[in-house]
Amino acid sequence: MDVTFKSSVAAEFAQVDDVIVELLKSDVEMVENIGHYIVRAGGKRMRPLLVLLSAKALGGVNSAHIRFAAVVEFIHTATLLHDDVVDLSTLRRGMPTANAAFGNAPSVLVGDFIYTRAFQLMVELNNMPLLAHMAETTNTIAAGEVMQLVHAGDPDTQAEQYQEIIRRKTAALFAAACCGAGLLHQSPADQTDGLYHYGMNLGIAFQLADDLLDYAGDPSQTGKNVGDDLREGKITLPLLHAMKAGTPAQRDRVAEVLRQKEGDAFAEIIEIVRHTGGIEATRAAAMHHQALAQAALAPLPESDALSALNQMAEKAVDRQA
Ligand code: IPE
Ligand code: IPE
Ligand code: MG
Ligand code: MG
Repeated sequence: MDVTFKSSVAAEFAQVDDVIVELLKSDVEMVENIGHYIVRAGGKRMRPLLVLLSAKALGGVNSAHIRFAAVVEFIHTATLLHDDVVDLSTLRRGMPTANAAFGNAPSVLVGDFIYTRAFQLMVELNNMPLLAHMAETTNTIAAGEVMQLVHAGDPDTQAEQYQEIIRRKTAALFAAACCGAGLLHQSPADQTDGLYHYGMNLGIAFQLADDLLDYAGDPSQTGKNVGDDLREGKITLPLLHAMKAGTPAQRDRVAEVLRQKEGDAFAEIIEIVRHTGGIEATRAAAMHHQALAQAALAPLPESDALSALNQMAEKAVDRQA
């Protein structure tokens, strides 16, 4: 992540990292080993950054925000541990995934540890509206991942269903990160709601960009393999667009590859995606949600943090990693 985003909350950001390390403490060695393995690998830390910038845009960052930012990154980390098992992914953050390095069972169980640790910390924050929102959010994420699994290999998946999957599995946590800062501040409802819609649209844009990078990204920059989605029969906007805009023969071929989860056909499919304008269409959809995210910030007062939030929405789309 660009250093300019972090600079306005640099000190608070360092404290979030300290809380993360503190939260990984366990008397069970495997928990600490796997926990540190994935946390040390880094990641963009976009969600905690959004918590801090939202808090700052609402008037200031306090110690509860710092702990909440760590909670959000923890929930994200737990979903990644589980997601890589489900997606059979082998590369993340430029390193073998935890499931590749330690196995599926340890990844699932340590994912559970991290999820539940996040909730222990949230109880300490002693804010019932926030706890309720986070309970709802994690449940939404889980339902989104199940929904995606149900649609795997199904070329008849509709654009609306795809939209609902990405709203749940990804955007809901971004929305919670942003509006959670407002719940901790007991900010006016229009500002908290604005941040919720900002986070939701930024999250949708972010996942659209991720789905694009799964076809057109550079693994040395994303730290992830290309073609994971096709291998898993995951239907995303580049493919939905290719099937909509392609010739009947192209549509049938994409549908067949999806159904068979024919990962080896990646070169052929990316060609069809490019020819039918699937890259541009996905980018345009992401930019549409970027604009909606920025518009949702209208109730917030002018500030450096607000400018940073505006830039974060751009960054969600315009990124190589
Ligand atoms: C990956 O999220 C999962 C998605 C929602 C696409 P990030 O791209 O934020 O992952 P890290 O934390 O930077 O590795
Ligand atoms: C995001 O979807 C998954 C979660 C929200 C956990 P992806 O499956 O596309 O994420 P990556 O590409 O593995 O990071
Ligand atoms: Mg995945
Ligand atoms: Mg992906």
